[in-house]
Amino acid sequence: MSPARLNESRVSRRWGPTLAGHAIIGAQWGDEGKGKLVDFIASRYDAVVRFQGGNNAGHTVKVKDKVYKFHLLPSGAVRGRHIVIGNGVVVDPRVLLKEMEALQTGGRKLRLHLSDRAHLILPYHILLDGAAETEGRKIGTTKRGIGPAYADKARRIGIRIGEFVHPGRFRRRLEEAYPVKKRAMIAHKISPMPTLEAIHAEYAPLAKRLRPYVTDTSLVLHDLFRRDRNVLFEGAQGVLLDIDHGTYPYVTSSSTVASNATAGSGVGSRHVEAVLGVAKAYVTRVGEGPFPTELPTEEGIGKSILTIGKEFGTTTGRPRRVGWQDLVALEYAVRVGGISHLAITKLDVLNGVTDLKVCVGYKVDGRAQRGFPADVEDLARVQPVFRTLKGWLEAARRERGRWVLDPAARSYLRFIEEHVEVPVAFASVGPARDETLVLRPSPFAPR
Ligand code: IMP
Repeated sequence: MSPARLNESRVSRRWGPTLAGHAIIGAQWGDEGKGKLVDFIASRYDAVVRFQGGNNAGHTVKVKDKVYKFHLLPSGAVRGRHIVIGNGVVVDPRVLLKEMEALQTGGRKLRLHLSDRAHLILPYHILLDGAAETEGRKIGTTKRGIGPAYADKARRIGIRIGEFVHPGRFRRRLEEAYPVKKRAMIAHKISPMPTLEAIHAEYAPLAKRLRPYVTDTSLVLHDLFRRDRNVLFEGAQGVLLDIDHGTYPYVTSSSTVASNATAGSGVGSRHVEAVLGVAKAYVTRVGEGPFPTELPTEEGIGKSILTIGKEFGTTTGRPRRVGWQDLVALEYAVRVGGISHLAITKLDVLNGVTDLKVCVGYKVDGRAQRGFPADVEDLARVQPVFRTLKGWLEAARRERGRWVLDPAARSYLRFIEEHVEVPVAFASVGPARDETLVLRPSPFAPR
């Protein structure tokens, strides 16, 4: 430890914890490859924290020959760190227990801390998520009950994990919430409809199994900070799916920006000092909503990005929509997301594309626009202004054990840096852990 850090931690003992953690968030519409980056940098962190969303997320982590697919646990879980599920998360206990089992059968020690303030997803949330898609604007949700669970939290009829694992309280809270949900299920003609008794009978044993892990995770995090431990806040989805800053209403129901890492986990804003935003070399989106640089996927470049990039959802298996890189959207995500450094993934998927198009501006009726429009009807009308850059045959190759980036790929990354005004610290050129290039010094560089 450097002398500066030592002094800082002495001060922190006297005045409370002052050390800060880092966050990693998606800078597009999700699926940017955050899981892979987390795995790459995880060695420097003692704890990985989820602060929003639920099992609508999906990440695949490959360790040696074993492939782990997580929806609720953070990707850092396979590295045997402290895993924190913060108050901002919505938890489906069936999914959580399944993922805990998968991790334990892998022989790993489970150091899980589940917030007593996180909210519960119950069967009626899942049924109502599907039903809501048939009325109003179709969002194309993952149908995991995420939106309805957050809606109940805001309506003050949600059930918190602390209540769930309490022997008497779960039943009482369910008796209060169920009649409201029953009316909604009847209105949506949901049949068969789960009864209160059936829900209670199935979920009370799950609560018992989760009880040992439930705690005030704010205290856990403060203790970790006090002991000089490094903490990584792992975001799910991406800035363009944020409930406030995303393409509303085609968004998820939580806040995906870095500033929510602290509110969603019970620590103060001074505890996040650097934010790694992850973006693909192109753009993808699942579900509905405007997408200015979208490409057709029946043929041509769109089709090859879809197939070479294996762009199918981890949670739903749906084919993703694909498009050219959009620097208007990326600059916006950097700005509102609080991103200090970028990682650009999947450069290899663009291997062999001779003329690489990059969107550098939006026009409406021939007039240049400033910023990213708030309204989806305005976003649907923009005409992207493209710059064509030179492509590459192979984004990077290994020379005497070291990665060398192709000059055209390097120029492309510089072009991104100039537009969005933050450094590109990492680039990824393949799915394997060692296909990650460290391009610039950053607080995230693995030890
Ligand atoms: P919800 O989060 O299931 O309510 O879905 C709302 C929108 O967010 C839909 O367009 C989903 O496809 C999208 N979405 C939710 N989670 C993810 C994710 O992890 N990756 C990509 N898109 C997501």
